[in-house]
Amino acid sequence: MHDLVIRGAKVVTGTDVAVMDIGITDGRIATLGTGLDGADIVAADGLIAMPGGVDSHVHISQPSGPGIEMADDFASASAAAACGGNTTILPFCLPEDGVGLRDAVAHYLAKADGRCHVDFGVHLIVHRTDPTTLGQDLPALLEAGFTSFKVFMTYQGLALSDRQILEVMSVASQHKAMVMVHAENEDAIEFLRDEAERHGRTSPLHHATTRPVPVEREAVHRAITLAEIAGVPLTIVHVSNGAALDEIRRARERGARVFAETCPQYLTLTADDLDRSGFEGAKYVCSPPPRDAAEQAACWAGIERGDFDLYSSDHCPFRFVDRAGKDAPGARASFRNIPNGIPGIETRLPILFSEGVVKGRISLQRFAQLTATNHARLYGLAATKGSIRVGADADIVLWDPTLRRPIRQADLHHGADYTPWEGFDVTGWPVATFLRGCAIMRDGELTGRKPGGRHLSRALPDTLL
Ligand code: URP
Ligand code: ZN
Ligand code: ZN
Ligand code: ZN
Repeated sequence: MHDLVIRGAKVVTGTDVAVMDIGITDGRIATLGTGLDGADIVAADGLIAMPGGVDSHVHISQPSGPGIEMADDFASASAAAACGGNTTILPFCLPEDGVGLRDAVAHYLAKADGRCHVDFGVHLIVHRTDPTTLGQDLPALLEAGFTSFKVFMTYQGLALSDRQILEVMSVASQHKAMVMVHAENEDAIEFLRDEAERHGRTSPLHHATTRPVPVEREAVHRAITLAEIAGVPLTIVHVSNGAALDEIRRARERGARVFAETCPQYLTLTADDLDRSGFEGAKYVCSPPPRDAAEQAACWAGIERGDFDLYSSDHCPFRFVDRAGKDAPGARASFRNIPNGIPGIETRLPILFSEGVVKGRISLQRFAQLTATNHARLYGLAATKGSIRVGADADIVLWDPTLRRPIRQADLHHGADYTPWEGFDVTGWPVATFLRGCAIMRDGELTGRKPGGRHLSRALPDTLL
């Protein structure tokens, strides 16, 4: 007798897709089979059971510059995550000026305490290479289960030089961490921005024209080279185009441990969206920018061929009608002042289900890998998260594959006041989310449980190192 049985769903496991029952006891998957009995039964005929989404690239309550405020805290971002079929998220901890990395992590965990509806890990952002950060804070955190961090090659105040990146990577190599890199060439962007402004090209579209594909391709090549020198595994996050992906494929052919992430914006949006009339284009300003139909096709080809390991949201929400958001002081005068990032934590999974699975581009199993299993594996959570198998946490999302609806801001739960996908038609939507066997979302709304998300300490598998 189980605590709960999810009965008769088409279950997507790591090895199979088959109609069966999932028996859950003490928050874990105890049995996969047929005719299972439980104290509680959820009838799931006609539904698909997938591993709960693991979104390994989200920004929540991240310091974003003077006067600018992210639209989500842990409560709203995790509510949106749960409603979008996710059970684990990995946001980034960025230290404020004058705060050490260890203190910043402690403050960040306090922000999540009792407020997060899904389980969560924390990636670090390393944007300083002083002796305390590299000699004490970072090693201590890597050893304490914060086994991944992001470095930036762009954004003033965040970007590190090549030498600094090597110094940080060397700490990763000693302490078994995954390095994530935001790969865009800051000097090239600065040159192109200055030139654009000199010629009066200041509308949101020019956020895209000043960050062209070579800016990303070159930085991807350089980041991989640095990781090969340092001997660390590397994830290139938010890959937006075919040329950058080709760099990753070539590196893998020579044996580099490099992994690739893409996001819904690179599969469904283009730079034309940044050219929408009025100031509407600001809603689509993110880095790297969405490209064109050909690059979209190249990213889809990468998804279909298996070149991408990860599909994440890069949820980075700012309100549109807000001086603390997209309409920041100076934003209408120059794209340079528009906060970078778009919201997408709740719509990530439905977009790939509809455009990928329903349109026949990828299988259900590939969907599970791209949205959950590989995230758990690459960031050190595979012991409990990311797949439906006996012994794993009962983190499960039930999909109605026939549900057709347009994406509407009015139906979403994030703190942003818009969605870049307003009116985008999708087929398939998550109808129930279970976190460690507890229903946290039903029919598109939270079930009203007290937020029960736990912080997850992580360990990378030896096979990655
Ligand atoms: O524009 C973006 N992607 N903003 C979020 C921060 C980042 O670089 O991932
Ligand atoms: Zn980034
Ligand atoms: Zn990001
Ligand atoms: Zn609602």
